[in-house]
Amino acid sequence: MICLGIESTAHTLGIGIVDGKKVVANEKRMFFEKGIHPRKTADHHAKFFDEVLGSALDKAKTSLEEIDRVAFSQGPGIGPCLRVSSVAARTIGLLYNKPIFGINHCVAHIEISKHLTGLKDPLVVYVSGGNTQIIVEGKSQKHYAVLGETLDIGIGNMLDNFAREIGENGAREIETLALRGKPSVPLPYSVKGMDMTFTGLQTDAIKRIGKVRKEDLCSSLQETAYSMICEAAERALALTKKRSVLVCGGVAQNRRLQEMLTTMAKDWNCRFGVAANEFNADNGAMIAYVGATMKKERGLPANKCIPIQRYRTEQFIF
Ligand code: FE2
Repeated sequence: MICLGIESTAHTLGIGIVDGKKVVANEKRMFFEKGIHPRKTADHHAKFFDEVLGSALDKAKTSLEEIDRVAFSQGPGIGPCLRVSSVAARTIGLLYNKPIFGINHCVAHIEISKHLTGLKDPLVVYVSGGNTQIIVEGKSQKHYAVLGETLDIGIGNMLDNFAREIGENGAREIETLALRGKPSVPLPYSVKGMDMTFTGLQTDAIKRIGKVRKEDLCSSLQETAYSMICEAAERALALTKKRSVLVCGGVAQNRRLQEMLTTMAKDWNCRFGVAANEFNADNGAMIAYVGATMKKERGLPANKCIPIQRYRTEQFIF
C-alpha cells in the first residue's frame, strides 16, 4: 500500500509518501515572513506544489499512477492554505482514479509519533502553534479524547507573538536566547484543572520588554509556560494512570520542554517519548501514514474533499 500525503495547514507545504508503514519520502517547503499571511502563504504552496510533489515522487522512486491512495490534511488550519491540499488531493484522486482520505492534522502528529517511538496508549501532550492539548485514546472507537487544552491561544503562537515583539522570528529564537538567561522574572501562571491560558502571560511578558534582560525574560517565559503544561499533564497522568507520556507537535522540538516532561514522567515511573524533529514540524509523511492505515470505507467522495478549518481532534474517527 503506497499512500501520498499532502500537508498545507499553515506555513509548510509538505508532501510525503509511505509504503506500508515505512516513510519513503518526506519533502517540504516553508513560507514564513514574521507571521503567516494567509493568501501569500497559500500562493506559495500552490506555486511550489509541482516542485515538492516531483521531488517526493523521485525520492520514493514512484509515480502518481503507482500510488494506491491520496491523503490530505483537512484541518484544523488556515482556510486558504488548507484549500491547496484539498484541491490538489481531489485533482490527483479524480485524474488518476485513486481513493481520497481527509486527515485531521493533530491526529496525524500523534499517530506518526506513536509509530516512531513505539509507545502504546500514551498520555499525549500536543503542543504546536495553534494547538495545546492533553489527549488520551478513546475507548469505544478509534479516536482521541481531549482532557485539557488552552482556553485561548496555542503555546506556539504565544511564543511567536512574543518573539516578534523583541524583533525575533519565532519560538526557536526564544529557545536560543533562554539558554543564556535565568528564569528570574515572575510572570503570571494560569492552569485551571487540565486547561491553560496563555494570553495573560504573553501580555505581561511584553510589558516587561526593555525593563529586564531579554535573555532572562525568554527563560522565564519558557519556564512559566512549560511548567503550566507539565502541571496539566501531571494531573492527567494521575487521573488516567497511563504508563507513558508522548509529546508531539511543533513545540515538542523544544529541548527544555522535553527535559521538563522527562522529569515529570520519571517521577511517575512512566516512559517518555518524542519523535525526531522532522516529524514534529509539519510534514506530509504523517498525513500519508494515517491515510495508509485508514479503513477503505473512510475514503471521501470528491465533493466532500473540502477543508474543515476548526477540525477538532476528537471529531476524527478512523
Ligand atoms: Fe502541526
